[in-house]
Amino acid sequence: MLLTNLTLATMTGGYGLMPNAAVLVEDGLIRWAGPAADAPEGKAIDCGGRLMTPGLIDCHTHLVYGGNRANEFELRLTGVPYAEIARAGGGIMATVRATRSSSDEELAESALKRLDSLLAEGVTTIEIKSGYGLDRETELRMLKVAKALEQERPVSVTTTYLGAHALPPEFKEKREEYLNIVKNQVLLDVSRFRAADAVDAFCEGIAFSVEEVESVFEVAKSLGLPVKLHAEQLSNQGGSAMAARHGALSVDHIEYLDEAGVGVIAASGTVAVLLPGAFYYLREKQAPPVAALRKAGVPMAVATDLNPGTSPVHSILTAMNMACVLFGLTPEEALLGVTAHAARALGFADRGRIAPGLRADLALWDVPRPGDLAYPLGFNPLAAVIQNGRIVRGDLA
Ligand code: NIG
Ligand code: FE
Repeated sequence: MLLTNLTLATMTGGYGLMPNAAVLVEDGLIRWAGPAADAPEGKAIDCGGRLMTPGLIDCHTHLVYGGNRANEFELRLTGVPYAEIARAGGGIMATVRATRSSSDEELAESALKRLDSLLAEGVTTIEIKSGYGLDRETELRMLKVAKALEQERPVSVTTTYLGAHALPPEFKEKREEYLNIVKNQVLLDVSRFRAADAVDAFCEGIAFSVEEVESVFEVAKSLGLPVKLHAEQLSNQGGSAMAARHGALSVDHIEYLDEAGVGVIAASGTVAVLLPGAFYYLREKQAPPVAALRKAGVPMAVATDLNPGTSPVHSILTAMNMACVLFGLTPEEALLGVTAHAARALGFADRGRIAPGLRADLALWDVPRPGDLAYPLGFNPLAAVIQNGRIVRGDLA
């Protein structure tokens, strides 16, 4: 399949714009990309001069869960803080109760609806975390349901075990006991059954301390599982620096990351994942240190953080816009954040850019310039999607 009459945003070193371009797709891979005049022979499909980007990558979501927390939105708007709702048994724990009592089928059915919103905006790879089960059975069920979404839709799913998301109430006075279950039981099963591709935790006053998370990371690393961290979201705990010492793929949220922390993650090659949806919904005031991250050359990714409590954001284009308006990213940085840098945050070297040898995950847009993707709100200019070398959406067939 030869896609011609394209403007390419290859996302190699910035937009990597290539006008009047063509892409040759074969066996699920990009075989060739370059000026249309030099294109090899192939069954040509005219793309009408439109813009092609890599398929978008949502590198941080909690897409699989049970229940609904709109009531907390109403509470927070009357001035009750997120941390207080959490301490009163709402927040993450409210979703844990609803998730435990949902069947696999119920979890899959609600997850597919959310997934469809993301796919409608050109997403071809998504990361999905557990963390709303907090017992062995429900955590493994969440991971299984998440991975199985791949069988239902044209998307790559990568899964993350987030057992250290919150302390379940049944372990209220037994923190160590809970962490021992995470480390000595569930993590071993996750590794044995290859149930997750990475391990995450929530390092925060209302969740787990740096030392507690580090003990989980040590076990994860010994099992060969890469780590990442919800860090510095509501306060500066030093979780990012600890994660970087363990070679973390990413540190996520990081509103309260300080200059020293930026230096540490720059040195470890850890990606900074910015989650403006949670910042927006929690009406936070402190934005992540974008200027310092930029100056230090830290790759910045952008994700929806799609979850039932702090970021019911089902639109990656909206996350890109918020990253620009709320955090000061350029539209180019926002697009890198959902392509090349998001791939890196997930440890994928085979996607996120348009280049020979990479997966043929591509999105075609009805916009004249790539800067138009992060600009409007509530407008979806997606024209077509190619996933794993096949046209799965749009008007090209
Ligand atoms: O990424 N920060 C911790 N975890 C989620 C929110 C979880 C929830 O409130 O359900 C987040 O924002
Ligand atoms: Fe999250």
